[in-house]
Amino acid sequence: MAKAIIIYETRSGNTEMMAKAIETGLKEAGVEVERKKAARANEDDLKDVDAVVLGSPTYVRNLIAAMKTFLFEMDKADLKGKVGAAFGSYGWSGESIEILTETMKNLAEMDVIEPGLRIKRGPTEKGLEECREFGKKIAESIK
Ligand SMILES: Cc1cc2nc3c(=O)[nH]c(=O)nc-3n(C[C@H](O)[C@H](O)[C@H](O)COP(=O)(O)O)c2cc1C
Repeated sequence: MAKAIIIYETRSGNTEMMAKAIETGLKEAGVEVERKKAARANEDDLKDVDAVVLGSPTYVRNLIAAMKTFLFEMDKADLKGKVGAAFGSYGWSGESIEILTETMKNLAEMDVIEPGLRIKRGPTEKGLEECREFGKKIAESIK
């Protein structure tokens, strides 16, 4: 069974709502999923996974701090050629999705799904459906 891990961080819950809906989409497509907050994740979580899905809201045009710290953990793992995907909630500029995409491509040499998924503020029902569809798209890239 294909395996994915969703690592994310949130301050007010919006990116977490996205993470849960992406998890649902992946599971519906038959992928085994673990979902973990970045502050609690480390290099060991990245062993034996086929896809790494990273989620961060944008704060002051950057990643949320715990995700930035996690990227140094990610640097210790060998993820070359594995599937990557980025998502996050934002208010007006949404840089974090591109930062995550670029880092997965350049630092980890992953095969990243582009574009990543960004949703303004709290996802509506339509937004949550987009997240589930994004999960399915990630699942298709693994197979
Ligand atoms: C202090 C502060 C700074 C922010 N800076 C940005 C920003 O630079 N660009 C942006 O798109 N949104 C910015 N936002 C909006 C958040 O990204 C938005 O509220 C998002 O939904 C938060 O996601 P979360 O609930 O997962 O923490 C900022 C919000 C706060 C409180």
